[in-house]
Amino acid sequence: MKRLLILAAAATAFFANAQTFPGPKPITFVVPFAAGGPTDRVARDLAEAMRKSMGGGANFVVENVNGAGGTIGAAKVAKANPDGHTLLLHHIGMAAAPGLYRKLPYKPLDDFEFLGMINEVPMTIIGKPQLAANNYRDLENYIRTNSGKLNIAHAGLGSASHLCGLMWQAAINAKEAMTTIPFGGTAPAMNALVGGQVDMMCDQTTNTTGQIEAGRVKAYAVTTSRPLSGNKLLKDYPTLQEMGLKGFNLTIWHGLYAPKGTPPAVMAQLNAALKIALKDPDFIKKEEGLGAVVVTDNRVEPAAHKAFVAAEINKLKPVIDAAGKYAD
Ligand code: MLT
Repeated sequence: MKRLLILAAAATAFFANAQTFPGPKPITFVVPFAAGGPTDRVARDLAEAMRKSMGGGANFVVENVNGAGGTIGAAKVAKANPDGHTLLLHHIGMAAAPGLYRKLPYKPLDDFEFLGMINEVPMTIIGKPQLAANNYRDLENYIRTNSGKLNIAHAGLGSASHLCGLMWQAAINAKEAMTTIPFGGTAPAMNALVGGQVDMMCDQTTNTTGQIEAGRVKAYAVTTSRPLSGNKLLKDYPTLQEMGLKGFNLTIWHGLYAPKGTPPAVMAQLNAALKIALKDPDFIKKEEGLGAVVVTDNRVEPAAHKAFVAAEINKLKPVIDAAGKYAD
């Protein structure tokens, strides 16, 4: 706690010396998915932590700009005024979209300044409460015997839930078994799943933990390479690798971006505030309570963040090509 107070005091001094930024104008986190979903959750929690780490002098607002798997919101920030007041909080879709869209309205590596990575989040394969499968093996058999009659929800082409569904369906040779149903984010998708209007979904633990705990959805497996042994709720669910899907490993990550051309001094202030926020015990507790892990390695630095996204773009392209693109 003492270390955090020292860091916060240093931050207050650092920001107090700032000439103009942030000033009275709020800092907007653009979330490229509907309110109430996992991305929105990270944004609101981080905004609170960064408000604190900037000495309480900065106001943050979260703006949900959903649609097209997160690419509409990302495009909005790419074209925004590079004054540090409009930032993008986005996830693995930053690296998946180039493989899924032939014409993206922005260039992920050229049209943004990289402010640092935030967290890594496992995903869970979940089903509606009435689904007639009570464990992962049942689920795969159910999909085979009901091929063509089932559907799987996601948050649009390029979203994390779409990417996971794409990879999972390819891994179990069920590309034609399920119809994919796009939503503006996995918050509305979760409502449809809980209500029984859709059959399945692959979503981040930040969105599924509460629903699984409350028994409003059925959980079947996690997408990470290793079991979530540290997570009291999810530790007993098998990984897809344990269920025979060799090499299946998908972890979602979130990062923070500014429009290209944001002044270096503003970038430095935002990156400093982010790094202090990522050490905030309240923020860490919220993240870990939902199965997420806050990034503590050098990817909190802009250069390493950009190098990581570039590597993820190259890693995901063949995975997406192999899984086959859906013209959602
Ligand atoms: C969300 O925030 O709605 C999800 O992260 C969307 C997605 O599946 O990517």
